[in-house]
Amino acid sequence: MSDTLRFPDGFLFGASISAYQTEGGNTNSDWWWWEHIESTPCREPSGDACDFYHRYRDDIAMLAGFGLNCFRFGIEWARIEPAEGEFSRAQLAHYRRMLDACHEHGVAPIVTFHHFTVPKWLHDQGGIASERFPALFERYCDRAAQALGDRIAYACTFNEPQGLGSSGWLLGINPPGHTDDREGAQRAVDNLLEAHRLGAAAIRARAGIPTGVTLALPDIQYEDGAQPGTSSLELESRINDWFLELARRDEFIGVQTYTRFRYGPEGPRSPGNDWSDITRELTETDQTTQMGYEYYPQALGGAIRRAHRACPGVPVLVTENGIATANDEKRTAYIHTAMREVLACLAEGIDVRSYLYWSLLDNYEWAFGYAPTFGLVAVDRQTFARHPRPSAAWLGAVARAGALSGAAQSV
Ligand code: BGC
Repeated sequence: MSDTLRFPDGFLFGASISAYQTEGGNTNSDWWWWEHIESTPCREPSGDACDFYHRYRDDIAMLAGFGLNCFRFGIEWARIEPAEGEFSRAQLAHYRRMLDACHEHGVAPIVTFHHFTVPKWLHDQGGIASERFPALFERYCDRAAQALGDRIAYACTFNEPQGLGSSGWLLGINPPGHTDDREGAQRAVDNLLEAHRLGAAAIRARAGIPTGVTLALPDIQYEDGAQPGTSSLELESRINDWFLELARRDEFIGVQTYTRFRYGPEGPRSPGNDWSDITRELTETDQTTQMGYEYYPQALGGAIRRAHRACPGVPVLVTENGIATANDEKRTAYIHTAMREVLACLAEGIDVRSYLYWSLLDNYEWAFGYAPTFGLVAVDRQTFARHPRPSAAWLGAVARAGALSGAAQSV
């Protein structure tokens, strides 16, 4: 572990959210449809979410007030292109105001163009698996980059594309809810790879912004005698390799991780390894998080090193890392240990440029609903009032100092 506890000048400290999980009322998106069908696996609908759509100004001011200098948020395709080929100037202006609010507060905006959701009209044509998907995504990226690009610090085409094929076409836990549709899953993955290539090129051509993809890279560890197998996690890990190959040509690679998954001779042996089981009980222990994952903040080091090995010379942005917990001291300890991993990677010479905690707000955790609490800030579900937790001030103080103080904490 490195001796130096200082982060390099210009390091980005912040928090992430996505559009769908926080804005509320995204009625034109495939997820809204998914939450409301009779057979939905979702525990509850997203409803007004955090009403971030209307409260973004206060939220950005709050994030800056903590001392953070970077904010990653999403733009919602279903709002920007509410019907095929119809682009909404008003919605683009809305997102431009959000970018302006970031700049007013000295906060670097990192924008995600696609975070799991597509417009309902595109869903009706087959969504990500439609042969038209890559070209439609390219056009959307072009139009959004034209309207917003001069205000964006870094652009992410896709958030965690590696899981979208399996969750939507094999496991049936995301729209369109197919199960065992191998052909559909393969088409979705092929289209996402092509769409990343086209979308990133369109964003660069329009706005010259550093562009990349963000990947979920859980730390997968095989113990002696373990046989690599065919679990969803391992499948996604192989799909990640294809995205990492593409990312060699990008200006950054976004790394996101929450835990590790261990495999022994008898197969998976980490709690929560069947992450696709959305009916599982959400109970937290000292060793696990509310998501049922192992408490293992050290996973971030493994994830950064994996991205670096696959894409040498490509800067790494940690675009998500976090814990769902009811215990905010555990959250602070988790972040502390994860940030020490970042420092260790920096000391090894890896060009890591950001640490963004997931999430700024307690928000809609997809099919799990609002029970898991990832936020630096709690949100009152009746009034939408924001209640910052001590971890927010703690992370802000690290950002202000540009350094971690004290030994790693234990829970
Ligand atoms: C996703 C988020 C999600 C978070 C916590 C990430 O995989 O990008 O949308 O809320 O993990 O589970």
